[in-house]
Amino acid sequence: TSGELAGASEKSGFSTRKAFIFAAIGSAVGLGNIWRFPYVAYEGGGGAFLVPYLVALLLAGIPMLFLDYAMGHRYRGSAPLAFRRISKRGEWFGWWQVLITVVIGIYYPAIIAWAIRYTGFSVDKAWGSDPEAFLFGDFLRAAETPGPTLDVVPGVLIPMVVVWVVTLGVLALGVQAGIGRTAIIFIPALVIAFAILVVVALTLPGASVGLNALFSPDWSALAEPGVWVSAFGQIFFSLSVGFGIMITYASYVGRKTDLTGSGAVVAFSNSSFELLAGLGVFAVLGFLASSSGQPVDEVVAQGIGLAFVAFPAILNEAPAGVLLGVLFFGSLVVAGLTSLISIVEVGISAIRDKTGAGRVAATMIIGLPMAVVSCVLLGTTGGLYVLDTVDNFINSFGILLVAALSMLAIGWVWRRLRPLADHMNVHSSIRLGAWWRVLVAALVPLVLVVMLVLELVDN
Ligand code: PHE
Repeated sequence: TSGELAGASEKSGFSTRKAFIFAAIGSAVGLGNIWRFPYVAYEGGGGAFLVPYLVALLLAGIPMLFLDYAMGHRYRGSAPLAFRRISKRGEWFGWWQVLITVVIGIYYPAIIAWAIRYTGFSVDKAWGSDPEAFLFGDFLRAAETPGPTLDVVPGVLIPMVVVWVVTLGVLALGVQAGIGRTAIIFIPALVIAFAILVVVALTLPGASVGLNALFSPDWSALAEPGVWVSAFGQIFFSLSVGFGIMITYASYVGRKTDLTGSGAVVAFSNSSFELLAGLGVFAVLGFLASSSGQPVDEVVAQGIGLAFVAFPAILNEAPAGVLLGVLFFGSLVVAGLTSLISIVEVGISAIRDKTGAGRVAATMIIGLPMAVVSCVLLGTTGGLYVLDTVDNFINSFGILLVAALSMLAIGWVWRRLRPLADHMNVHSSIRLGAWWRVLVAALVPLVLVVMLVLELVDN
């Protein structure tokens, strides 16, 4: 490569704006929307959670998305290279993001693998009459036993290997032929499947009980800093901002692209999908609560076990249970895969920019070790125990704190916000004016830091 601003990304990018938008939606819409959002929203006050959620989206999520796009597009590189092109001392911000995506990339595939198994189980209701005594229930119990437990969980290792083979295969194909094309096929299929699921779910008897639980706001939750932290954490995780992903993807976009308009489409699609998922999941939970006589909070209280323990119980009872099951678990698989692809691409692009390695080589250098660790750790009973804890930690300190620091550095130390805004404004439909600089350099970092400190004090 020649020219000062040509990274590995220069050679082969997305061939159309549409491919970029679909890939970005593919990254954003994931397990976070279907599996994480409903219980996070419920724990954060139900309907009341929508307040911090929307505040976080408008105040931090979208402005940060624009910052990620601006950096990747202006400096044309992976996260470490983009930061490095701002300042040598900034490079570690990019590597930190790579590290975070490596950690997420190790546990995320496990959920996809479980979903693959459960898509199959939905057809023959393999969990029998007591899903809690079935696979995932066993797994949760085994995981609670302290000590190194590396027994293979039956039936999870193979789908995990499949997930990794598919993911690395797509990534080896390249940005347009792999990432772009996969998203253009998968995302419309996902939307259709999920829309059917929600319509069926809303017509279940008792659906309204669940929707009431979701939307009867507990306003007192708004006084808890933890709720605000989890709303901001959810927005960052769900939009995939602050992880280096959008920096990477934007570096693959043609020069004359309207990035703010694209970002608005991505953010709107992602949140719509998330709210839709909340409706669907809670309608189904309401059905379970009213048909089993359990209170809704008990049904929901299962956190990460919700999808794999509560859902099967529901499918046993529900009319059209097979259809619901296949749509639900199938959607998890598809949504998860397109996100996992983006997660691993952060490291691949970083390795390429750092070493000059080709795409296939870089995919192997970082992808294979990740795949092996991931399969060994989470295809066995040892891993799930840490999953929940790691997930929570990453989404508060791992991401929010470092995001705040990087915004302060870009805004005040390196003073790059104005040039970045000017760069974006050339082809932008939404003008990044003073409002954007104030949000990114002052308000958002301030809010993030205050929130995190309050939460630390709270605990
Ligand atoms: N945004 C994706 C989701 O909602 C997951 C993700 C998180 C992707 C972090 C990339 C980075 O599930």
